Amino acid sequence: MAKRTTRKPAMPDAIKLLKDDHAAVEKLFDKYEKGHHKMSDSQKKGIAGEICQMLTVHTQIEEEIFYPACLEAEIKEAEDLMAEAKVEHQSAKDLIAKIEGGRPGSAEYDAWVIVLGEYIKHHVKEEHTEIFPEVRKSDLDLKDLGMRMAERKEELMGQGPRTGRGKDTNGGGLGRLVQAS
Ligand SMILES: [Fe+2]
Ligand SMILES: [Fe+2]
Repeated sequence: MAKRTTRKPAMPDAIKLLKDDHAAVEKLFDKYEKGHHKMSDSQKKGIAGEICQMLTVHTQIEEEIFYPACLEAEIKEAEDLMAEAKVEHQSAKDLIAKIEGGRPGSAEYDAWVIVLGEYIKHHVKEEHTEIFPEVRKSDLDLKDLGMRMAERKEELMGQGPRTGRGKDTNGGGLGRLVQAS
């Protein structure tokens, strides 16, 4: 019988990694939006904290690694697209700061989380329809990029949640994504 080679965990390419993040955070927004009327303040704080941490790490790996790679690869309309994306990130960060400093029992808290979800939905749609298809057409090495992003993500997540419960809803299954080699 042929000897089996050691199986490495599948390493997502850069776009898959980002799409998985988008899906995971959208799930949390959905949970919050549908359930917030019945949640305790601590449940709200837990979910909102996870959302904020995930988005903080996600926007950071995009800004540090993915967007600069798109600029370097000179994808179509890269400068305009990246500038727009960064403005959208900034709007998200402003709301994240309010949520992290806010009280879940306050009148605005639910609105901040729900509006953040709407911003992110819009932003994600632009990434999926305008940026990712151009990146796929480019000659960027998406495996290598994905590896670098996964490593940076692990490092940033390792700094721990600023609020909230921890890593159980990290849909990316980060620990499994990064293979030290
Ligand atoms: Fe983004
Ligand atoms: Fe994104």
